[in-house]
Amino acid sequence: MPRATAIGLMSGTSYDGVDVALIETDGQDIGRLGPTGYRPYADQERDVLRRAIAVGAHLTRRDDRPKVLAEAEELVTDMHAEAVEAFLAANGMPPSAVTVVGFHGQTVLHRPERGLTVQLGNGPALAARLGIPVVYDFRAADVAAGGQGAPIVPVFHRAMVRLLKRPHPVAVLNLGGVANVTFVDGAADLIAFDTGPANALIDDFVRTRTGQPQDDKGRAAAAGKVDEAAVARVLAHPFFAKPPPKSLDRNAFRHWVTEEGGLTAKSIEDGAATLTAISAAAVGRAAAILPHPPASWIVAGGGTRNPTLMRMLAERLAPASVETAGAVGWSADALEAQAFAYLAVRSLKGLPLTFPTTTGVPRPLTGGVQAR
Ligand SMILES: Nc1ncnc2c1ncn2[C@@H]1O[C@H](COP(=O)(O)OP(=O)(O)O)[C@@H](O)[C@H]1O
Ligand SMILES: [Mg+2]
Repeated sequence: MPRATAIGLMSGTSYDGVDVALIETDGQDIGRLGPTGYRPYADQERDVLRRAIAVGAHLTRRDDRPKVLAEAEELVTDMHAEAVEAFLAANGMPPSAVTVVGFHGQTVLHRPERGLTVQLGNGPALAARLGIPVVYDFRAADVAAGGQGAPIVPVFHRAMVRLLKRPHPVAVLNLGGVANVTFVDGAADLIAFDTGPANALIDDFVRTRTGQPQDDKGRAAAAGKVDEAAVARVLAHPFFAKPPPKSLDRNAFRHWVTEEGGLTAKSIEDGAATLTAISAAAVGRAAAILPHPPASWIVAGGGTRNPTLMRMLAERLAPASVETAGAVGWSADALEAQAFAYLAVRSLKGLPLTFPTTTGVPRPLTGGVQAR
């Protein structure tokens, strides 16, 4: 099968910016991992996305675009176009050198139990502006077929783990707004699911209290005291004991924290420490429902920049080794963007993106919509 040169674009539930990555792949094996890029969102742009997520929570049909969402969708498309244009310019590449762009879009609602998953992003408009074929709307077919629509990157994680040649089982953990794990065991099926919150609750709490977008380097959490009773209350939620498949909306756990966790009266430090411990403990619970304990965990996503979260994770997962993606030669920041480049090529070839053991879809299923 000839190799395609693909660009992947990811704007995750943290809506911090667009990650860009180029890979070469035939849709099965990964050839070259190319350059990566990032187009951060400005504060006003994040405000637009925050309002879109608030309005998106009330959608009952996935194609509805009330004014706020229509405007946000145009902005999302423009910001992704800028991200690709800057990336091509920085790497001296003409658009004609790229086979396909995988455009995830910005999730504003993820309620698979209601048959709804909504990613803002106009694929045809992006394809027209760039002059490159675009694959978008990756999750819709899976949810329409009864799957969770998430996590959708595990087939890529498995291809990456194959390149490492290390003892199985290996767990790949992505710490975005939400955390998801992929369990790769040479023998068994691919197993994947969302473990719980990663950064979303920490970001929301810190922003509300201080106006800062995140607990930079986990400093506040490092200075605080974990309220173990609050951690136990949140972890008692049935989501954590539920066997996979399972996935989460970034805001699904907001009320667990305010109402059940009783975090509203905490100092910034104690609140951040407790929320960080909740994210780490949720991964610990995920480890317990995997078929075998992973020998090693490879961790990617913005959460790897939070040493307090990484320390708490290592404590919860001991004696397994916990390494960052960077430590094994991967890109912690661009792993998901690389995944959408890979998934776009798989989509062009009609290969499955999701599986009964990753999203619960009844049979392996391809996905994505093509715009030329
Ligand atoms: N220096 C840092 N200190 C603490 N947290 C960070 C830092 N850099 C990034 N993060 C966290 O990572 C998040 C972005 O991670 P990312 O993997 O892009 O998530 P998503 O896929 O949801 O967009 C930020 O919102 C923030 O919570
Ligand atoms: Mg991000």
